[in-house]
Amino acid sequence: MNTDILTIAIDGPAASGKGTIARAVAAKFGLRHLDTGLLYRAVAARCLQAQADPADPDAATQIAQTLKPADLARSDLRSAETGRMASVVAAHPPVRAALLRWQRDFAVEAPGAVLDGRDIGTVVLPDARAKLFVTAEADVRAARRWRELSQKSDIAYRDVLRDIEERDARDAGRANAPMRQADNAATLNTTEMSIDRAVDEAVRLIDAQLTA
Ligand code: DC
Repeated sequence: MNTDILTIAIDGPAASGKGTIARAVAAKFGLRHLDTGLLYRAVAARCLQAQADPADPDAATQIAQTLKPADLARSDLRSAETGRMASVVAAHPPVRAALLRWQRDFAVEAPGAVLDGRDIGTVVLPDARAKLFVTAEADVRAARRWRELSQKSDIAYRDVLRDIEERDARDAGRANAPMRQADNAATLNTTEMSIDRAVDEAVRLIDAQLTA
């Protein structure tokens, strides 16, 4: 990889704050940003639209291999159902292989990028110059996600919590590229932090790695 390219990996579970942190870190360091969860969400949304079963590896793989930039602009990517099904399609190794290329191609374009997801520091960008694993207690993450989702749909907190717990278990338990903290990633626990404080802390941890 070109050493002038600066890559930063930010991983963590759903609603940990990693997406907001990744966007802010990208702006701060003048880098591009890719929310890699959107790729899996787009595969899931196209599966649902085609009435294909997201658990069927062949259908999901065919969609992942033909994913287009326009698929990332769909309006249904942020729904709870799409998030749940994204975690299902993400367990198929050929789906991950197709999306791996997309993610690395994005990361190596100048001046570099911040990628957030589940396996960025471990699999997608193992040589990233800085790595962060953002986490928070499940009930706090569920409350954050519920506040977002309840503005658009009538959804119960307990359903959001169950969803988050099931998704954590599936994402961390899959055989291929499970959600896992890279050995050399700094940990940021946002349970008791405002988003502004979490962003400041993230920038401090990343700065420390870049200047080490
Ligand atoms: O970050 P998110 O909630 O938008 O991600 C949706 C799902 O996509 C998540 O439950 C697991 C999957 N995912 C993944 O397996 N690997 C990534 N790098 C990003 C997301």
